[in-house]
Amino acid sequence: MSEVVLGDGLKIGHPEIDREHQEIVDLLGDWRSRLGTADRERGVLNAAAFRRHLAEHFDNEITIMAEAGFSDVDEHRDFHSNALVRIDAILAKGLDGSGFSRDILDTLIKLFLNDLVPEDMKFKSHLQHKR
Ligand SMILES: [Fe+2]
Ligand SMILES: [Fe+2]
Repeated sequence: MSEVVLGDGLKIGHPEIDREHQEIVDLLGDWRSRLGTADRERGVLNAAAFRRHLAEHFDNEITIMAEAGFSDVDEHRDFHSNALVRIDAILAKGLDGSGFSRDILDTLIKLFLNDLVPEDMKFKSHLQHKR
């Protein structure tokens, strides 16, 4: 059971993007809630699943933004690239042998909810102005 919530204030208003954000939040929440029982191998698999989901979401989101004529799409693509560098550095801490701590999961969740999704809000404004 996930204890991480994607609040209404973080909904973009694009069903596919919101669904993918929810999936990533669920994945992180589930991972964090199982930390105590997880072995090292499980942590590596969870990290790979999260990384893959996120990269796929980033690609998909850029396609959606470009098709919608979002003017900041190049800037947003750069933001995603930088975010992946930061996330890889965080994941590396868990993959280096010491395993994934609650601290690492909290850092990933905070980064996603306080940094990555809020940046997508610029696209929400774009969608609203198009209506
Ligand atoms: Fe996003
Ligand atoms: Fe994004």
